[in-house]
Amino acid sequence: MTRLSLSVPLVAPFVGDDEIDAVTAVLRSGQLAQGPETAAFEREFAPVAGTAHAVAVNSGTAANHAALAAFGLSAGDEVVTTPFTFAATATPILMERAVPRFVDIDPRTFNVDPAAMAAAVTARTKAAVVVDLFGLPVDPAGVPALRGRGVRVLEDACQSIGAERDGKRAGSIGEAASFSFYATKNIMTGEGGMLSTGDEAIAAAAKRFRQHGMGAQYEYLSLGYNYRMTDLAAAIGRVQLRRLDGIGRDRRAHAAFYDRELAGVAGLTTPFVPAGSTHAYHQYSILIDAEQTANGKDRDAVRAFLGEHGVGSGIYYPTPLHLHPLFAAFGYGPGDFPVAERVSRQILALPIHPLLSRDQLEHTVRVLRDAVGASTR
Ligand SMILES: Cc1ncc(COP(=O)(O)O)c(C=O)c1O
Repeated sequence: MTRLSLSVPLVAPFVGDDEIDAVTAVLRSGQLAQGPETAAFEREFAPVAGTAHAVAVNSGTAANHAALAAFGLSAGDEVVTTPFTFAATATPILMERAVPRFVDIDPRTFNVDPAAMAAAVTARTKAAVVVDLFGLPVDPAGVPALRGRGVRVLEDACQSIGAERDGKRAGSIGEAASFSFYATKNIMTGEGGMLSTGDEAIAAAAKRFRQHGMGAQYEYLSLGYNYRMTDLAAAIGRVQLRRLDGIGRDRRAHAAFYDRELAGVAGLTTPFVPAGSTHAYHQYSILIDAEQTANGKDRDAVRAFLGEHGVGSGIYYPTPLHLHPLFAAFGYGPGDFPVAERVSRQILALPIHPLLSRDQLEHTVRVLRDAVGASTR
């Protein structure tokens, strides 16, 4: 292998002069907290999610919390969701004093199929949180089966902005959806989030929820929080929104390169994209099966090798939620969700952000092929 002294960072925020100018203008305006920039960001965002309403908040976690609260859960209600996700998919279930009920994932998409969730619904199930993991939207075809059982559906689209499945935009698959603008997301505001919904009542409830449960000023109708977005964040978000199509194109082009270059390498499985889907590639996550690699190396050994050769990588997620003390307390243990457990041991995210050069992509592929003992092409 040619030893290049290239370094390939796993993530890099895409920030230009336009973001800096937009923030400066807000600073000069004197209106820093939620104001006209936030309102404009909401208006411009709604079509991206394919919904009538968008409500800006200060994180994806807050958007998930606001949606579940708007669903009107009661203590002890059950919410079905996936164990293979970031904690903030499921912690809002606990915030509403409901009980998470996990369902194992599909081994190819890493998502929970909504139809599989419908089979897990009981008389106590009030909601489902489906996740468009890594940027691949869940199958909308399964959602009516959940709705038909009286289950309210929240789509965690924190990783899937700009993606589509069967003509539906990420953010429009459930009754409400959440987006995150955390610093490493496809578009970002440092910290920030958005709730999208076609339901006016959910939008109104979320607007109260982010502002201390207020109706009129200083009239407290229900429990709420300070989940407001600042106009500083919204100004960044509006500029980033204009970059979204280009960012999506670049990420998909990088993914196509990896797909091509890694096809047929023993022990590696590249992401599966079902027909009719446009993947947002927040992550490009491959599986590494040590029983199949030419040199018997497993995920952790491959990751160490990549690191030694300057290639960043990430593990999303090293342990499924049901095996963490916070969620194991609901009676879960090892072996409950074998697919999620195996995928957690084998998964590895490669650099996919738009700022990667062709040299960096080629270096990543070369190092990865070398790591698993594949012949150099
Ligand atoms: C799937 C998923 N859900 C929820 C969140 C929470 O978003 P935030 O970090 O903006 O609170 C994130 C992002 O971190 C996420 O990836």
